[in-house]
Amino acid sequence: MRRYYDFLVIGSGLAGLSFALKVAKNGKVAVVSKTKLAETNTSYAQGGIAAVTYAPDKVEKHVQDTLIAGAGLCDEKIVRMVAKEGPGQIEELINWGTEFDREEDGRFDLAKEGGHSEHRILHHKDSTGAEIQRALFEQVQKHADIDVFENYFAVDIITQHHTGRLVKRRHDDIECYGAYCLDIASGRVETFHSKITMMATGGTGNLYSSTTNPKIATGDGIAMVYRAKGTVENMEFVQFHPTSLYNPGEKPAFLITEAMRGFGGVLRTTDGKEFMHHYDNRGSLAPRDIVARAIDNEMKVRGDDFVYLDCTHLDGEKLIEHFPTIHDKCKSLGIDITKDLIPVVPSAHYSCGGIKVNEHACSWINNLYAAGETASSGLHGANRLASNSLIEAIVFADRAANHSINKIESIQFEEGVPEWDDKGVTHPEEMVLITQNYKEMQQIFSVYVGIVRSNLRLKRALDRLEIIYKETEELYRKSTVSVKLCELRNLINVGYLIIKMAMKREESRGLHYNVDYPPKNRLRK
Ligand code: FAD
Ligand code: SIN
Repeated sequence: MRRYYDFLVIGSGLAGLSFALKVAKNGKVAVVSKTKLAETNTSYAQGGIAAVTYAPDKVEKHVQDTLIAGAGLCDEKIVRMVAKEGPGQIEELINWGTEFDREEDGRFDLAKEGGHSEHRILHHKDSTGAEIQRALFEQVQKHADIDVFENYFAVDIITQHHTGRLVKRRHDDIECYGAYCLDIASGRVETFHSKITMMATGGTGNLYSSTTNPKIATGDGIAMVYRAKGTVENMEFVQFHPTSLYNPGEKPAFLITEAMRGFGGVLRTTDGKEFMHHYDNRGSLAPRDIVARAIDNEMKVRGDDFVYLDCTHLDGEKLIEHFPTIHDKCKSLGIDITKDLIPVVPSAHYSCGGIKVNEHACSWINNLYAAGETASSGLHGANRLASNSLIEAIVFADRAANHSINKIESIQFEEGVPEWDDKGVTHPEEMVLITQNYKEMQQIFSVYVGIVRSNLRLKRALDRLEIIYKETEELYRKSTVSVKLCELRNLINVGYLIIKMAMKREESRGLHYNVDYPPKNRLRK
């Protein structure tokens, strides 16, 4: 089956849907989503979206906070651009129907999170992402020129590698003509032809056993672009959120938003002692990499499975009013957040690296854009500042929309694209071959490529991953495509990039902490 669209959007989070809404006046749009439209990382976002609104805050302060968190690796031009254009994109979200909390006088109720020098986080209680996703979903459903394909899994993008016209081309001459997408219900792979393709497939959290990310976050876009010989960068910078609820076995790990620390919550070891001041003068509100490492260190030194977040000294009524989702969740486990300490642990949360893009969200493959968590725009550097992800997603989706609208007229559908070839392949005999490798891969990353790394651990991870890689590639060649197999394959590709880039970075910086390259500052003061 062949389908033809001016714009193909892979992913239905904030990046994908906001791009779709913006380009739909200029052509037919397909949005492909591998599960339900709303099952995205975006829907899970709690704390909010960072943008400058009122004095004394100003764009320069947002810029400086982002640069400091990024530990010298941010692209300052991009940081300035996002901080400047962010407020305009907040207006767009509001125009689409997103509601952010306000004070009684109508001004936004702004929260504060780690690494921010001002209150600048717009939020909707503690479920900001769900509110954004709801508003975009309603707009997309109403739009006559947007076709939504739920339960369609993008397997690979189509380039000259498929048309056979890749003769001695330069690396940056690769072009994208659309994508092969598996209709999960029928089991058939369809050919989506497109003039412009937007990769908005989100994060990679499921590389780790414990992650705040939902199941969809398997790095598919990054792996597809890597296989198509696009450019991927900064993958060693994996962000661990310091405070996910300690509830072993729960997937995804439930997040306890950083905004709770911004509200006055304090971290304590299991004997009730504060510890963050031993690590950083900003205490519990230090940037995420520092807090996650400090917690990891305290747990290791003390042999504990978690630390506590203490909110018991705060106004209970206000606490529940601001964090109703967290209150309800904790209550369901017998924890009263107004009276009890909340057990928390770090969990894999965000990929700072990804598909390299320029200031218009153009990837290094022609007519392929990337935005949101799957992209590496230069905003985050070695460590993302809290709540800078949602704002990045919408600013870059907007830039991609403007840029692609200007060039779509000059692009023709490519001829000679073959349909998916699955001759000679069969269903895998045993799914356990896939599920067991998936678990092994998660263990490798959790143990050897976590918050604290070493050269030996990275080497061991690479050796182990190579075995799983070979087994999985062999299975892939012989088997009909399935979501589980493709996701495993994608995560292995992404994991390989993380290890290789981590090995190449012979220093500790931001989120990449290698004990063989001790940072200038000691971990504990
Ligand atoms: P997503 O929203 O993850 O969407 C990805 C889409 O791609 C999904 O629709 C998925 O189905 C689809 N997809 C993936 N692979 C394929 C494929 N092969 N074929 C078809 N479809 C595919 N950031 C903030 O700025 N502020 C916050 O408060 C905040 N809180 C967070 C809380 C949690 C618990 C989590 C997990 C993240 C949080 N983040 C936050 C990070 C932020 O939510 C994400 O980085 C951001 O939403 C990513 O948006 P996106 O559009 O790039 O991807
Ligand atoms: C949180 O609410 O703590 C998550 C914010 C983020 O990931 O930016």
